[in-house]
Amino acid sequence: MEENVNRRDFLGMSLAAIAAVGAAASLVAMKKSWDPLPSVVAGGFTSVDISQLAAGELKTFEWRGQPVYVIKKASDDPKVEGRDFEINGEVYSVGLQVCTHLGCIPQYFADKKEFVCACHGGVFSSSGKNMSGPPPRPMDIPPFNIDGTKLVFGEEGEVYKQLIAKA
Ligand code: FES
Repeated sequence: MEENVNRRDFLGMSLAAIAAVGAAASLVAMKKSWDPLPSVVAGGFTSVDISQLAAGELKTFEWRGQPVYVIKKASDDPKVEGRDFEINGEVYSVGLQVCTHLGCIPQYFADKKEFVCACHGGVFSSSGKNMSGPPPRPMDIPPFNIDGTKLVFGEEGEVYKQLIAKA
């Protein structure tokens, strides 16, 4: 009799332990399915320090799988309303480096201060405005915010909203 009770207790505790492990595993699996994918979290915001850019220099990086450029305008390159903005008295321009004709990636030529799209010869100014060829509109401005000498892409800051409103 004593042996039967002990065996029954042992089986009961074992089943309870297995059920607890199963419940915990289910909760972990459910949490994983609710959480955003790591690629979504990492791809949401990109912070770029532009303090080291020289006048006239372009820097390209990837944001959400697309090339984005930042140009620190040279002193003889005029500030373009609705496209350029200032940080600490320096003028910058940003944009998705994607041609608005059929999506090729235009190359920047610093000596001419223009982007040229090799696919069909579209030309954009250093402010991303379409100048000639088939592109129907300027290159898009990605949402960004200014954080000191950093640009945070993925955030809609005040300067971004002002640019978009004037575009
Ligand atoms: S894709 Fe750039 S000009 Fe056609």
